Amino acid sequence: MSQKVTLIRGDGIGKEIVDATLRVIDALDAPIEWEEAFAGSGALLNYGSPLPDATLDSMARTRVALKGPCETPIGAGFRSVNVAIRKHFDLYANVRPARNVPGLKTRFDDVDMVLVRENTEGAYAGIEHRIPPNWSAAESIILVTRQGCERVLKYAFEYARRAGRKRVTLVHKANILKETSGLFLEVGRQLAPQYSDIEFNDTIVDATCMKMVIDPSQFDVVVTTNLFGDILSDLAAGLIGGLGLTPGANIGENCAMFEAVHGTAPDIAGKGIANPTAVMLAGAMMLEHLDMVDRATLMRQAIDATLATADTRTGDLGGKLSTEQYTDAVLRNLDALRAK
Ligand SMILES: NC(=O)c1ccc[n+]([C@@H]2O[C@H](COP(=O)([O-])OP(=O)(O)OC[C@H]3O[C@@H](n4cnc5c(N)ncnc54)[C@H](O)[C@@H]3O)[C@@H](O)[C@H]2O)c1
Repeated sequence: MSQKVTLIRGDGIGKEIVDATLRVIDALDAPIEWEEAFAGSGALLNYGSPLPDATLDSMARTRVALKGPCETPIGAGFRSVNVAIRKHFDLYANVRPARNVPGLKTRFDDVDMVLVRENTEGAYAGIEHRIPPNWSAAESIILVTRQGCERVLKYAFEYARRAGRKRVTLVHKANILKETSGLFLEVGRQLAPQYSDIEFNDTIVDATCMKMVIDPSQFDVVVTTNLFGDILSDLAAGLIGGLGLTPGANIGENCAMFEAVHGTAPDIAGKGIANPTAVMLAGAMMLEHLDMVDRATLMRQAIDATLATADTRTGDLGGKLSTEQYTDAVLRNLDALRAK
């Protein structure tokens, strides 16, 4: 029986990179029935809402979505649909792996970390307002709940256990944000003894940035609050070659959404040169989530084989290929792997 999955192409480079990913997933003969839905600026233009009810209904039905990036206007305008979807379905754990691609030269060759970011509260709870007169000040509330901390920290420990990883590092700023970051740290320290097979340590976010750019090999599973996780995951993407390579999974109890870490890349949208790898890898994470593990492994191997050769890379990685040519190369490697 085929699995229904909601498909949101999104804005900017979204259509180009999602369509490239669909070509690979189709070639894997994955038993998936796509249900197209819309979100972002394009949805606002065509359907009168950046996040139409039909999109939320589709995700509620299928409980799985593959999503391209969606534009969020800076300052004024509608609130982020990405944040809205995460909140609506309570997708509390944002899982963002960053690992070196074999053969792709970057500053390091031993990065293999998974960042688990709390995805529904903290500084992104959306509780902020202007203070009159004339926006002379503004106020924002960081909301952290014990239950919110507990579930994402448990997820990180259990993920580490499942994936055979050795250490969980909790990142915080409890020296300054004594109550909010302090609560996250306290809950982490309380839970850690239940996972005595996993090493546990904690580190302050600013020091973490410095450690990550000096010696990223010391990080295995990293768990942190929403704002720090957002920033650290882009930093981690930079360590392995850029945003074009980093996928993300948004996991909740009843729904999961898979997407790239990067945004709509308006500077290159429509040019056919975007790197689709991050959404492809998000697609592989989705296949794993749907228990199609062999297909996910094959997809990753085909992507690795393609990126290993300088001739078959997109421009952001120093190559010359268009999105379509790169996807052709991934499909050729898929055939070659199957023929082995
Ligand atoms: N999950 C999401 O949907 C999501 C995530 C982040 C940003 N956004 C939105 O995207 C828009 C643009 O954001 P931004 O410019 O800050 O970040 P961005 O990630 O879109 O782009 C940053 C830089 O990275 C490059 N880049 C990103 N993805 C690439 C790819 N696949 N291949 C090649 N180059 C790539 C871009 O060309 C740009 O130079 C904003 O509206 C933002 O809110 C959405």
